[in-house]
Amino acid sequence: MAYETIIVETRGKVGLITLNRPKALNALNSQVLAELLAATGTFEADQAIGAIVITGSEKAFAAGADIKEMQAKSYVDAYMEDFFSGWEAFARNRKPMIAAVAGYALGGGCELAMMCDFIIAADSAKFGQPEITLGVMPGMGGSQRLTRFVGKSKAMDMCLTGRMMDAAEAERSGLVSRVVPAADLMEEAMKAAAKIADFSLPAVMMCKEAVNRSYEVTLAEGLRFERRVFHSMFSLDDQKEGMAAFAEKRTANFRNR
Ligand code: CAA
Repeated sequence: MAYETIIVETRGKVGLITLNRPKALNALNSQVLAELLAATGTFEADQAIGAIVITGSEKAFAAGADIKEMQAKSYVDAYMEDFFSGWEAFARNRKPMIAAVAGYALGGGCELAMMCDFIIAADSAKFGQPEITLGVMPGMGGSQRLTRFVGKSKAMDMCLTGRMMDAAEAERSGLVSRVVPAADLMEEAMKAAAKIADFSLPAVMMCKEAVNRSYEVTLAEGLRFERRVFHSMFSLDDQKEGMAAFAEKRTANFRNR
């Protein structure tokens, strides 16, 4: 597929997707969503890819859903097309996805970053859910995911005032896993992704599934799920290899099976 709004590259075992609508600060329109679904779908199907990094530009990861695209929609338009529901398919990707965020991650941009498994932020990053300033509210998961990341008080503050959070506050609040100097962002994100991609892919995917499960079920159910998945890992060649490598004091050579 020829992409027009994103740049798709492969670096070793890492798939790199760069949002590329510089004139609109990477605003997320329906073409961006379609292309992101196609690109991540290709990476999901490629056994050689072990992790995905999603990034934007120095100025903007993404400044939100495309306001100009949705401005004229009626309720019926939005309802009939189940507007934004396609993003749920994106969030269901099973391989690990890291958001590398510099500059603005606002509205849908913040929501896209939160759909990834973790966020590495440049010290220039600014997060926000400013939809209230447009007479609406978050629609790509912000009211739900931001609340789970940072708790009710801060999520309410962000969603009701529309204010931005800088990278330091985002790290303090648990929205991002680490903050790095802007100049080091891509190196750090690619290094983290390459490290993950060197592990056993089925083990990584099962681990991601188990952590995500904690958002959906009770603690007792989650613990049972974790244990069952853990038990199933003893059927992996990679479990035998990983533990043998430890015992033999050598580096494991995972074969993704
Ligand atoms: N949608 C469409 N176009 C956008 C956009 C968006 N979300 N954000 C920026 N742009 C466009 C601007 O219209 C402008 O285009 P023109 O040059 O054609 O006028 C271009 O990108 C550059 O933007 P600015 O001139 O505004 O740049 P700035 O540096 O002065 O300001 C900014 C940067 C503070 C991020 C400002 O662009 C801004 O406030 N953007 C909108 C942020 C926003 O409200 N996001 C939420 C969108 S709604 C949403 O996401 C719903 C949801 O829950 C999914």
